[in-house]
Order: sequence, then structure tokens, then C-alpha cells
Amino acid sequence: MSSGAVSTDAVSTDAAETVMSGAALAQCRQFCWTPDGSREPTLRDIDLRIDAGERVLLAGPSGSGKSTLLRALAGVLHVGAGGEGSGEVLLRGRPAAEAGASIGLLLQDPRDARVAQSVGRDVAFGCENLGMPRGRIGAAVDAALRAVRFPYGPGHDSDAVSGGEAQRLALAGVVAPRPDLLLLDEPTSMLDEISAKAVRESVVEAIEGSQIALVVVEHRLRDWLPLVDRMIVLDAHGRVVADGPVEQTLQDHREPLVRAGVWVPGVPDPEPLAIPAGLLPPVRRPRATLSGDMQSSHTESGPRVFPAGGAGGPGSSGGGPLLRARQLRLEARPALRFTGVRRPRPSAVALDGVDAAVRAGRLLAVRGGSGAGKSSLVAALCGLVPPTSGAVQAETELAADGERRPHRWRSRDLAARIGWVPQDAAANVVGATVRECLLATVHALGGGAERADGRTQSVAEGGTAADPESRAEALAHLLGLTHLLHRHPHQLSGGEARRLAVASGLLHSPPVLCLDEPTVGQDRHTWAAVAGLVLAAREAGAGVVVSTHDDALAALADDHLLLRDGRVLR
Ligand SMILES: Nc1ncnc2c1ncn2[C@@H]1O[C@H](COP(=O)(O)OP(=O)(O)OP(=O)(O)O)[C@@H](O)[C@H]1O
Ligand SMILES: [Mg+2]
Repeated sequence: MSSGAVSTDAVSTDAAETVMSGAALAQCRQFCWTPDGSREPTLRDIDLRIDAGERVLLAGPSGSGKSTLLRALAGVLHVGAGGEGSGEVLLRGRPAAEAGASIGLLLQDPRDARVAQSVGRDVAFGCENLGMPRGRIGAAVDAALRAVRFPYGPGHDSDAVSGGEAQRLALAGVVAPRPDLLLLDEPTSMLDEISAKAVRESVVEAIEGSQIALVVVEHRLRDWLPLVDRMIVLDAHGRVVADGPVEQTLQDHREPLVRAGVWVPGVPDPEPLAIPAGLLPPVRRPRATLSGDMQSSHTESGPRVFPAGGAGGPGSSGGGPLLRARQLRLEARPALRFTGVRRPRPSAVALDGVDAAVRAGRLLAVRGGSGAGKSSLVAALCGLVPPTSGAVQAETELAADGERRPHRWRSRDLAARIGWVPQDAAANVVGATVRECLLATVHALGGGAERADGRTQSVAEGGTAADPESRAEALAHLLGLTHLLHRHPHQLSGGEARRLAVASGLLHSPPVLCLDEPTVGQDRHTWAAVAGLVLAAREAGAGVVVSTHDDALAALADDHLLLRDGRVLR
């Protein structure tokens, strides 16, 4: 799917034609869809019509079929995924492929949308695809980049962007050709308040006074509600359970919506879920003097168990932080290639002079605007990128073969010591099924963590520790992934994929856990489960880092670090 995803090859801006003919711009009639490999339909008996100029918010719990419905409306349900459909999806009264309507679909994972190396070429793709005259494309690209407040020019490398910038870039790509139907799948989920507001305004600006119809999917409804006039809600079974004017729908369906997990404005935030004892056993530090093989080190003299809780944890009482960044500077790789841009990109400084400490039994929240350097800091703490200057160092007892710099550790040593949940949740898929992914690190480390006393007991029995397989199942249950354990991880919804990444990152109880935006794309219930797990990892003694735009998650943290332009503000 391209950033300017379209279902036809003709430019059509003649929305009036649709109005005249009486046909809806888009319509579903008794539409059902069951993806291959699934016993249950993802969408059931969908009946709805979208007219030119309508502004619609599509809501529903994680996994309810919102993204699937957008793909159906865009006529691309069959692209990259098989399944059985029944009923109809029509554009201008005709099957999507013959309809002559132009559609811009912004996918949930913005990196899926990137098609070209330079920003300008990337944004131009949709315009070219729709046959926009060459002479108009440059101005359309510039206007779209301005509209989404993209911070770099058209010559910038489209790889060298933060998650939030990637989201804005993808949005520019779908807005530039001015499609008849604009379908946006969580366009602001990875943005801070200010950037999200800017993007909402730019969407409104882009469609204002036009007959462009908008369908936007978002979990956090509040900020979109004033900008739309209609709300459609799906339930967990892929059925439309509410469809109508915003105010009335919220009023008439308030209780069921909250029960279903929808973030209804004005309802207090959920509490983090209490996690059963034993689901995350106490964290142990791999022994420093031996190689990174956790198993052999444990059998020799037994692991050292971190006591739970912040104040009494070894990080605060013993040898200081588990991990520390000192005067950390990180430069994005300098321009190595020339991709038709006018001049080479100067090397970007992602982080400069950053000091940070990860302490056992404490939660550190890394905050800052889109592109501030949060993911870069998380990646550096996780040993995934070497510092350009300055250092990231583990405490002596966490060292592997005497080496304290995580980026020099073997991958096995790194995995045993630091759990990483990337911002791009699909980046860590290392198995053919959800179950395999969950257990991948445990198995790679030779069976995973045992209890200090070697006993195992199932979580269901109320035990304090269990074998990794039964803990994996309990985690899957908690995160609403049980029915998906046999699925390929790439077949998950956005929220499901992120929950899988969280579960996979912590099942082996690493002493340090770094989670990049772990609550993005979650409904109220799944948010509570993810937040509960973050706190449970802290209670188990891990040093936990979250990079987040989520105020409710950040409010749970013990320590805070605010970044701006790669520097620590406070
Ligand atoms: N290609 C596929 N193959 C099998 N199942 C799929 C596929 N794509 C989606 N699903 C399943 O269909 C259900 C609906 O997925 P969809 O992505 O539409 O949900 P969603 O409402 O957008 O969720 P989220 O809020 O988490 O993004 C999910 O349970 C998902 O696992
Ligand atoms: Mg989705």
C-alpha cells in the first residue's frame, strides 16, 4: 500500500456526480469478512453509507475490525491477505475497482506507507498514481508537507524520521492528491499533544469547504469529536452497534461503549489491572563474571533475586543504577547516498549531552514532543545503537564477560539483560505464530527464568511462579490474545501486535525493560492490562523505562525525563 493508496487509476474529484446520481460515495450492504485462518468473521453484517462531505469517527475496542473496515472501504481488503467475503462494498454504487473514486488510505503503521527514499518523492507518489498533471505535483507536495507541519523539506531522507514524523509524512502522502474519500487509521496515535493538534487541524484544513468525505479511526475520541458530525462504533465481534450524530450516540450508548472499552470522554481513566502474583517472577541479575549463559550461571551458585519495590531494590541500595547514560550523543547516520536530492542531508543529532539512569524497581518515563529523541534514547539504552560519544553503561553486576557497554554485548547477553519493546511493534516478530513470538526469547535463552528455589507452580493455582509456557498463556489471556495464539503475528490488529510485543519483551523477566510507546492503540481494557504489566515488572524488581505520550501512563512513573531537540529539559 502506498502513501497515496488508491483504488482506481483515474483522477476523480467530481463528487457532485455522486450526489446527483443519489449513490452513496461508499456503501456496505450486509458485508461480512472472515480472514483466512480465522474461524470467526472479523466484520459481520455491516450496513452503512458514507456520503460526500461527511466527517465520520469510527470507534471500537482493539481488534473489533476498524482497520479491516477501512481497508474494505478502500477496496484493498484482498491486498496482502486472503479471506472470505459476502455482501457488498460499493463506491458510487459500483464495485470499488470500477468506481472511479479516488481514495486516500492512511494505514495504522505509517512505515508501511513509505515508498520512496526522499520525502518529496514519497509524498508525490499518490499524486502521480492518480494522474495529477506533473506541473501541479510540486506545489501539491509542498502544500501537503506544510499542512502536516512536517519539519523537513522534500529532499530529506524518508528513512531518517521519528515515529511521529513518519505518521505526518504518511498523512501528507494521502492528503496531497485531495482524494474523494479520506480514510485515516489512527493518524495521531504516536504524536504528542501539540503535534496531534497540528495534524487534526491540518486534516480539517485540507478538507474544509470541499466534498471530501473523511472516516477517521481513533481510540482517544475526545479531540476528534468536535471535528466530526457522525460516529460509528463496532463491538468486539465486528458488528456496528452505534451509528449516528456524535452527541446523541454518546448519550444513547454511553454505558455499553464504556463497557466495550471505548474511551468515552468524561469517564475517569481506568486503573491499571492488578496482575496475579507469579505471572512475572522476581527479576534476577545474570552473573557478571561468567559468560552471558544465564542457565549455567544459575546452576553454579544460584541467581541473585532483586527484591521488589523501589526503595529497597538493589538499584537504590546497592550499586546505583542498573544502566546509566552519560553525556550521550547520538548522530543519525550521515548522508551516504545521493537520491536525487539537491544536497546531501547533514547528519542529524538525535541526542546530545543526555544523562539518564535506569534503577531497579523504578519506572522512568521518557517524554517529549514528536522527534525529541525518545526512541533514540530507548534504542541507545537497549544497546541497539552505539553512542557517537558519551556512554551507556551497565552496573558491574549486569556486565557480560566484563563488558559494561550494552551495544558490545552478544545478542544473547543483551536479550537476557534488556527487554525491548520497539515503537514499531511489528519489528520484533521472530516466530510464525503468536505463541512462538511470545516464547521466542525464553527459548533462545535455553528455557527461560526459573524461580530462585527452582519450584514451578501454575499461575492459575495461585502459585508464585510457573513454567514459561503457562505464564505465556496467562499473559495472553490477560492481554486478550488467547484466541490469536495460533495466528501469524502479521495478522494481528495494531493494538494486538503492540500487546504481543509487550508480552514478548517481559516474559523472560529481564532486569531492564524498555518499552517504546507501549499503550498506543489500546482501548480502556487493554490499556489497563498493559499498564498493570508495566507496574508488575517494576514490582518484580526490573528497572523499567517507558517512552510515552500517554499522560496516564507517565503519571505512574517514579522518575521523569523530558527531552526536547535531543537534550534533557528536566
Ligand atoms: N490478515 C488477517 N488475517 C487474520 N486475521 C486478521 C487479519 N487482519 C486482522 N485480523 C483479525 O481481525 C480482527 C480485527 O482486526 P482489525 O485490525 O480490523 O482491528 P482494529 O479494530 O483495527 O484493532 P486495533 O484497534 O487494535 O487496531 C483482529 O482480531 C485481527 O486479529
Ligand atoms: Mg486498527
